[in-house]
Amino acid sequence: MPKQDIAVVVLAAGKGTRMKSKLHKVLHAIGGQPMLHHLLASVESLSPAKTVIVVGAEREQVEAAVADCEIVTQSEQLGTGHAVMMTSEALETYSGDVLVLYGDVPFIPTSLMRDMIAAKAETENTGLVVLGFRPYDPAKYGRLVTAADGSLERIVEYKDASEAERAITLCNSGMMLIEGDKLFTWLDRLSNKNAAGEYYLTDLVEVARKDGRTVAVVEAREEDVMGINSREDLANAEAAFQTRKRRAAMAAGVTLIDPATVYFSHDTKLGSDITIEPSVFFGPGVTIEDGATIKAYSHLEGVRVRAGAAIGPFARLRPGADIGEGAKIGNFVEVKKAKLEAGVKVSHLSYIGDAYIGADANIGAGTITCNYDGFLKFETHIGAGAFIGSNSALVAPVKIGDGALVAAGSVITEDVSADALAVARGRQAEKQGFAKEFREQQASKKAAQAAKKGK
Ligand code: UD1
Ligand code: MG
Repeated sequence: MPKQDIAVVVLAAGKGTRMKSKLHKVLHAIGGQPMLHHLLASVESLSPAKTVIVVGAEREQVEAAVADCEIVTQSEQLGTGHAVMMTSEALETYSGDVLVLYGDVPFIPTSLMRDMIAAKAETENTGLVVLGFRPYDPAKYGRLVTAADGSLERIVEYKDASEAERAITLCNSGMMLIEGDKLFTWLDRLSNKNAAGEYYLTDLVEVARKDGRTVAVVEAREEDVMGINSREDLANAEAAFQTRKRRAAMAAGVTLIDPATVYFSHDTKLGSDITIEPSVFFGPGVTIEDGATIKAYSHLEGVRVRAGAAIGPFARLRPGADIGEGAKIGNFVEVKKAKLEAGVKVSHLSYIGDAYIGADANIGAGTITCNYDGFLKFETHIGAGAFIGSNSALVAPVKIGDGALVAAGSVITEDVSADALAVARGRQAEKQGFAKEFREQQASKKAAQAAKKGK
């Protein structure tokens, strides 16, 4: 589609009171990404000439979160029609059609937007296209009053509707496509003489009809136009998002043993023939390559797990972890900002941070890279094929050479040469018979004390 055909206006000036939050409603996250970004990602596929976001309070928050969009302020929330009027300057030099969306309706697919564009193009006389839907519970949505030919006569807000109108099941999603060169002349004709005292965008239907234009309806599925007003709605949206992600993962060749317990981010990248065990959480920025296994109760964020690697159970992979092909990260292991080459094993109870580990190195249980001195971070470099004995502390900055051995329980503060053995712990001593003598001595002391008390 050529760029100049469509402009998108996203309404986001509502107060969002029911969220009870300092964060702007449209910035609350779903799948680790603000809901607004879910919407803008679908909008982007249309390549609009312009995207304008109408905000009220917390303009700075929205400004900081988006690029490539113009932001305009509606300082008083006088209704959805009034909100669109606020874009008159931003759209001054633009005359193509305008698609109005809601910032708190994040899952509307691009295909529906295209359906609306196609519906408008069907006859030249169509001046407006409204996106309707038939909700399970029509509640307080505006109702679409249609003519015998299926075209739209008017939208009546619930507050203003008669009993007969409230019985209509076809509802207004709020989204519409409006003939661009008519938009602002039509908006000028809106009045606020209604139950809410607001300028209703929905009244454009009657205005357009008075201008001799027809209004078409495109019907959406309820899940595609689900709006978010409360934390409960947010949780429902998250659930819907996760269901889609899980289905997509399985369709792409990923085994989820218990899909309902696996949580993905908007950008989780999965290869094929991956197995994900129950209760795994993927924060943003995770890539899992073919054939990897993520075992139960693992938490991953900002990491790459290469082909055939096995993670967990109970592993925590933090940003900057890069786990090599066929490598193994076991239980209660935390890895942060560390590159592990192919075949590395960190099987139990370790912290690996700010580190490089060469191919096939084996890191014993309880090994800690001491990367922080309270002020600065330092790197630990472990060579290929090195073996780090259990319960070792590697005090960074430090380098362990290729093929070196570090004895268990060592505190390594100096570099270790390739193929060397480093032992950095107290030497073991033995005193023959000491334990036995000690027991006898203490037992007789205790007996003497008891005898004294008894007197
Ligand atoms: C609106 C529709 C109703 C539809 C419902 C769907 C109107 C008059 N009514 O009602 O037919 O069924 O959405 O959810 O349009 N907003 C602003 N500025 C304002 C008012 C609203 O930017 O002055 C934004 C809100 O942030 C929100 C959207 O517009 O994203 C809808 O506002 P809301 O107050 O929820 O409209 P409803 O009364 O629910
Ligand atoms: Mg609403």
